[in-house]
Amino acid sequence: MLTPAQLSRIDPAHLPRHIAVITDGNGRWAKRRRLPRVMGHRAGAKAVEELVSNCRQLEIEALTLYSFSSENWNRPQIEIEALMALLDEHLVKEIDRMERENIRFNTIGCIQALPELVQEKIASAKDRTRKNNGMVLTLALSYGAREEIVEAARRLALRVQAREVRVEEINEQLFAGSLDTADLPDPDLLIRTSGELRISNFLLWQVAYTEFYFTDVLWPDFGGQHLLDALLSYQQRQRRFGFTPEQLDCGD
Ligand code: IPE
Ligand code: IPE
Ligand code: MG
Repeated sequence: MLTPAQLSRIDPAHLPRHIAVITDGNGRWAKRRRLPRVMGHRAGAKAVEELVSNCRQLEIEALTLYSFSSENWNRPQIEIEALMALLDEHLVKEIDRMERENIRFNTIGCIQALPELVQEKIASAKDRTRKNNGMVLTLALSYGAREEIVEAARRLALRVQAREVRVEEINEQLFAGSLDTADLPDPDLLIRTSGELRISNFLLWQVAYTEFYFTDVLWPDFGGQHLLDALLSYQQRQRRFGFTPEQLDCGD
């Protein structure tokens, strides 16, 4: 939970509607402590719980977390298994909270690639929270943005083939509506932890005008104060979308 003193530093009228996070650095966090990587993932799951609470407290509309990329399937089998077991455990644990706190659970990515037991937990979490409207929590699981874009192109091609859509009707809106994120606003703020300055195939289409915030903090250490720092940085920026500062009437 953020303290009243922390909350008073943020302008509630200029919060991002949608925050996306690349929760990176679990492995290095564990390595520094001479622990197995899986312990880093476990500590990372705790940091996720805290972030969800803080974002809910701030009444953020949408929070999207990059939990497992399509490229992460290349990791050692033992780490993949540990991550899937942790995901399973986390879903079971978090479902009551999501129900209680009016959070709708959502996923993007190739869910069919996940173990069946995890798929069942996902389906049940989605079902039990489908009427909630406080915040949408999206986990990107077996997610790759290029794959998502190709899939959207395929979906549109099928609709053209079925004569539901004419080629001339394909525009940005229709394309965005064919992505996994169709019902989400684009992220306003993207946070990446652990000092890496790259996007790693996350939300390539959707971040066209997102504000980026990079921090050296490793994901398991990311707490309320770090979120606050990211939000304060976001609130100091002017989003121009191609206009001049004068046009936006805030220039000096
Ligand atoms: C992020 O932490 C979690 C996943 C990718 C699943 P990493 O496991 O990538 O941690 P580092 O980058 O090795 O420190
Ligand atoms: C990105 O982290 C994906 C997640 C946080 C799940 P990675 O650690 O897999 O990214 P790269 O491989 O360093 O770019
Ligand atoms: Mg990493």
